[in-house]
Amino acid sequence: MAAKRILTGITTTGTPHLGNYVGAIRPAIEASRDADSESFYFLADLHALIKCQQPELIHQSTKEIAATWMALGLDTDKAVFYRQSDVPEITELCWVLSCMAAKGLMNRAHAYKASVDQNRENNEDPDFGVTMGLFGYPVLMAADILMFNASHVPVGKDQIQHLEMARDVAGRFNHHFGETFVLPEAVVDNNVAVLQGLDGRKMSKSYGNTIPLFLPEKQLKKHINKIKTNLLEPGEPKDPDTSTVFQIWQAFASDEQTQWMRKQFEEGIAWGEAKKQLFELINAEVGPARERYNELLENPSEIETVLIAGAEKARAYSRPLLAQVRKSIGIAPLQ
Ligand code: TRP
Repeated sequence: MAAKRILTGITTTGTPHLGNYVGAIRPAIEASRDADSESFYFLADLHALIKCQQPELIHQSTKEIAATWMALGLDTDKAVFYRQSDVPEITELCWVLSCMAAKGLMNRAHAYKASVDQNRENNEDPDFGVTMGLFGYPVLMAADILMFNASHVPVGKDQIQHLEMARDVAGRFNHHFGETFVLPEAVVDNNVAVLQGLDGRKMSKSYGNTIPLFLPEKQLKKHINKIKTNLLEPGEPKDPDTSTVFQIWQAFASDEQTQWMRKQFEEGIAWGEAKKQLFELINAEVGPARERYNELLENPSEIETVLIAGAEKARAYSRPLLAQVRKSIGIAPLQ
């Protein structure tokens, strides 16, 4: 086994944007090229059901996210790339783990607690709109991870608690039934930029301030032009460190290019010109993949073939592990 087994899931509820690209997709694809590690990347479509009841949106998002990773050059022969719902062992394991997960622990999960707090604020019943899916979310996530004995799980800060819960559940299972699961570690990369959106807040679908990754050139240009700036005129020195334009520039530029742009700011580059430069830089990086992306979206069966093959690869791991789990817990043929 390779030194590291990296695993991460992407919830299929939206169209990938520049923030996803810089913060998650680009580093994950780079990590998958490391000879010393194995990568498991999957489309978390069962997790999507927790917050989205629009079938077309989930279906479309699954297609777009898969096409994005493929177009950006994820080597799907080397990495295991699959759709969560194509691996039925995960949902079975989820049930088994639910019977190991303390309800009191799940009560403390941020996503669930946020809903309860909001209900209280609105003078609603605390459980208003809370489904068992939301409540059990961390258990499904634990099943995703433990199913493949992942050692390293790259996630955003908001997910660290879920990793702690996965470790707790794994430890409990191991204690009751013997060493079965690897205790996974969260990997939070502080060097990866959290990109700012059009309004300067964190780029996020929930703020409606994103720049989708594969917009056609014209649209990309339009979006970049919408990035909020101050009213300084051309020729007036500008502060790079409080500028969203500069912050995004940095995420795409080499060190040299960053230094160069810093100087342009000091020398009073016009906002229009800075944005034009930013467009050129981003377009040069994502342009070639955009063509492939559009091609894939027009040939979804090509994506499907890759996902089906990925699921088969994944199940070569999940079948034997689930068989072991079943045996350990006393579910076995009578003979
Ligand atoms: N919960 C994660 C998110 O919202 C997505 C996810 C589902 C995941 N299963 C996972 C991430 C397993 C890492 C490992 O970002």
